[in-house]
Amino acid sequence: MSDTNAANPLVSARGLCKGYGKGRARVEVLRGLDLHVNKGEFLAVMGPSGCGKSTLLHVLGLMTAPDAGSVCFDGVAAPARAGGRTAIRRDRIGFVFQRFNLIGVLSARANVAISLRVRGRRDDGLAGELFERLGLSEVAARKPGQLSIGEQQRVAVVRALAHRPDLLLADEPTGNLDSANATGLLDVFREINRQGQTIVMITHSPEAAQAAGRIVCMRDGKLFDHNP
Ligand SMILES: Nc1ncnc2c1ncn2[C@@H]1O[C@H](COP(=O)(O)OP(=O)(O)OP(=O)(O)O)[C@@H](O)[C@H]1O
Ligand SMILES: [Mg+2]
Repeated sequence: MSDTNAANPLVSARGLCKGYGKGRARVEVLRGLDLHVNKGEFLAVMGPSGCGKSTLLHVLGLMTAPDAGSVCFDGVAAPARAGGRTAIRRDRIGFVFQRFNLIGVLSARANVAISLRVRGRRDDGLAGELFERLGLSEVAARKPGQLSIGEQQRVAVVRALAHRPDLLLADEPTGNLDSANATGLLDVFREINRQGQTIVMITHSPEAAQAAGRIVCMRDGKLFDHNP
């Protein structure tokens, strides 16, 4: 089981349950899921569409509370209050949403700048460097609606990384990229991981998953080690 790998966890989830809806329309998505992600790990999560990967990432990222079970971040139980969770999320987590969630009225560059500002962080040049590395310098002044889907996805990655989070949670970050751009992005992930940042990446791509040090698969609302 995945939770044997608990030497020095940055995130520990135990007995997570999460569902949607009420009564007969109720769908149970996470069903007693355990996961420990060690500091400095690069973990890939795979599994069929609809199995609950994004739901899990939202719970791990303290965006939403589980119905049952607990999440600990760096040894501290995630506060039940949404406000308490927000502080950890803002200061220590970077999130690449499956649907990007960029602000439509702001340019790509301003999307990243505002994310730094709400965190009280200075622009130390990393955002510009990432824009360049991910082939976005030419389009940084454009608004999301004037960008291709793959460009929007890479802007979302820059926004998630610019404040140097301890934990990067990325929901299918290569899902809309051609192979050259996917490789470039995964090189960045590997590099920041070598520098100590912890990564949990959801992917449908076996090639992308190979960039990670460990792969787990979701089935029946739980995680299992991937044995190729
Ligand atoms: N807000 C919601 N209300 C009701 N059901 C939901 C809601 N969000 C997700 N679901 C359902 O929960 C299940 C898990 O959804 P989730 O988005 O976590 O899957 P996923 O594994 O990320 O899928 P994909 O690979 O397609 O992104 C699905 O059956 C989905 O229809
Ligand atoms: Mg999803």
